[in-house]
Amino acid sequence: MQHAVEEAGERRRVPRHVACVMDGNGRWAQSRAQPRTFGHSAAEASVIDVIEAARSAGVGWLSLYAFSTENWGRPSGEVDFLMRLVRRVVRKHAFFLHARGIRCRFLGVNDPRIPPELARDFEDLMTLTGDNRGMTLTVAFDHGGRADIVEAARSLLRSNTPAEAVTERTFAAHLPYPDTPDVDLVIRTSGEQRISNFMLWQVAYAEWVFPPVLWPDFRASHFLDCLHAYRQRDRRFGGVLPSEIGASRP
Ligand code: IPE
Ligand code: IPE
Ligand code: MG
Repeated sequence: MQHAVEEAGERRRVPRHVACVMDGNGRWAQSRAQPRTFGHSAAEASVIDVIEAARSAGVGWLSLYAFSTENWGRPSGEVDFLMRLVRRVVRKHAFFLHARGIRCRFLGVNDPRIPPELARDFEDLMTLTGDNRGMTLTVAFDHGGRADIVEAARSLLRSNTPAEAVTERTFAAHLPYPDTPDVDLVIRTSGEQRISNFMLWQVAYAEWVFPPVLWPDFRASHFLDCLHAYRQRDRRFGGVLPSEIGASRP
């Protein structure tokens, strides 16, 4: 009985929205004396493993940072490789994602440098999976948190909303995919401890974990470790925990 109660408690503490900064592909390849692109190719297996692990664990929303607005500054050979790789991965796994009831979305994807055939594949995957009611997978591709905020401000101005009517809630309604809940947990692999312009609005009160493992080595077991670390956290949201109230009384 006690065990069942604990298990129910554990389930409740699964983060609703997990976001991953999939970092460390280049270093993974370089440590094997391979070109950086070798690490990007190896990342595919981690992506699929993590999607499956998140879904099985009961995560409702999974966001993956795949390409930032700043990543356009990389050598053109690497950028072109990434465009081709992502296209191959999307096409290869479309039916796996659909069969699992996963709804896929792409956050970003406005730059004219994105090959039109890739943009079309993104559209096709969104259409194919749009009615699915399992986990929502958001792939941040050509994404920048600041760009999203600027775009929301433009959209708000265009809507002629009076300044006094602008609240956090009305502002957020102008962000892309406004139904997306705030991020509960961000996982950034490779030991780097930066936001790197990722979903800036949505991560305002996220918990962060920084596993040292490089993304191509990241697997379901690492993901479950991160969920476990999340369960140990006290989320205060600027307040005081009920257990602390008594202690602070004079
Ligand atoms: C993350 O790995 C993948 C992308 C940014 C596309 P990196 O390519 O940044 O790998 P490191 O950080 O150089 O090792
Ligand atoms: C962030 O990683 C972007 C993605 C994982 C897609 P970067 O490797 O580009 O970030 P910095 O340069 O270390 O901040
Ligand atoms: Mg990096």
